[in-house]
Amino acid sequence: MKTQVVIIGGGPSGLLLAQLLHVQGISSVVLERKTKEYVLGRIRAGVLERGLLDLMREAGVSKRMDAEGFVHNGTLIAYDNKTFRIDFAQLTGNSVMVYGQTEVTRDLYAAREAAGGNIEFEVEDVEIHDVKSDAPFVTFQVGGENRRIECDFVAGCDGFHGVSRQSIPQEKRQEFEKTYPFGWLGILSETPPLDHELIYANSPRGFALCSMRNANLSRYYIQCPLSDKPEDWSDDAFWLELKRRIPAEQAAKLVTGPSIEKSIAPLRSFVCEPMQWGRLFLCGDAAHIVPPTGAKGLNTAASDVQYLYSALRQYYHENDTAGIDGYSEKALVRVWKAERFSWWFSSLLHSFPEQSEFDQKMQLSELEFLRTNESAQKAMAENYVGLPY
Ligand code: APR
Ligand code: PHB
Repeated sequence: MKTQVVIIGGGPSGLLLAQLLHVQGISSVVLERKTKEYVLGRIRAGVLERGLLDLMREAGVSKRMDAEGFVHNGTLIAYDNKTFRIDFAQLTGNSVMVYGQTEVTRDLYAAREAAGGNIEFEVEDVEIHDVKSDAPFVTFQVGGENRRIECDFVAGCDGFHGVSRQSIPQEKRQEFEKTYPFGWLGILSETPPLDHELIYANSPRGFALCSMRNANLSRYYIQCPLSDKPEDWSDDAFWLELKRRIPAEQAAKLVTGPSIEKSIAPLRSFVCEPMQWGRLFLCGDAAHIVPPTGAKGLNTAASDVQYLYSALRQYYHENDTAGIDGYSEKALVRVWKAERFSWWFSSLLHSFPEQSEFDQKMQLSELEFLRTNESAQKAMAENYVGLPY
């Protein structure tokens, strides 16, 4: 079998790339190791930057998103029992959209299926070959059958634990990593959100976030020790702790209820350089990870996809290799800016076990500066709504 681009990974990165290439008449095959149901079972945040909204519209997959997504023109930040608002619209002229990542993935699958897109599920033993040549190929197993696909390019969209990054020789890879000494305990509850916008809270007891999926489905997080397990936390204990970490006036309004999902996620910053090796290109979590604080995971995957899609369109339509030759260098500039913002916002809001009293004063002073300085708020807002591609 032959195709122009083999895409490894049927998550948001892989599917968005496949759909954008399809719109440009460029063929692809997506190889996904799980079932579609498994992929769609992943409950993940969706705070979409304007760049991703534009890509979804360019891919022709934005109808439900535009109908059901929630436009957020700002966010609330709470500390020292007070709350202030960052007005994205007033400061940047832009906003973000809250629309679950699972829904983005669902819409992309629907579009690929409607277009007769070629997606192989439950593939095993994917191996990438001859990417330093102009005729790479990918081998894999599906249903116990050995398969091989000849292609021009391979897009590694297979996430942090995928095979693509490992296919770049270790001695040619430089990996940068920071792990955070805490996790996020998150719950989903069929209760109305605390506010129509998100509330990010710094408190001496630790970070908290009040978010939502829709008018009757709320998502809450509290920072917790990495040694904790979800079963260590009863619903009552969670709600009590959350109320202790947000201002009293907010806690008084909180509508609690039984959790329908409860999980703990670790926080990590990670970048692999380079993001390409010959005709293999890494996109999304395959190349980088951010702590969820700044909601930059999906959005940085989207900018990778935009750079790669544009480069491949330039190659096939204009016979120009400038885009594919410069992909990694270009993508990494924006990746590192997303890493910086995610690290800054995480450092601002969380309690760190080794934090000295001076460090705590610095954190509160940074929050006070953000609350009272328009330039600081503008810088935060520009990062949150999404820096230019
Ligand atoms: N072969 C085929 N598919 C694979 C392999 C493999 N060897 N390894 C992993 N996969 C699949 C996974 O099953 C998953 O569906 O690749 C897909 C990768 O999807 P994600 O992990 O969601 O990564 P990405 O598409 O880059 O999306 C990034 O997802 O994890 C969040 O916070 C992250 O929002 C960000 C977004
Ligand atoms: C979420 O709703 O799950 C969410 C929102 C914003 C974040 C992280 C998670 O920064």
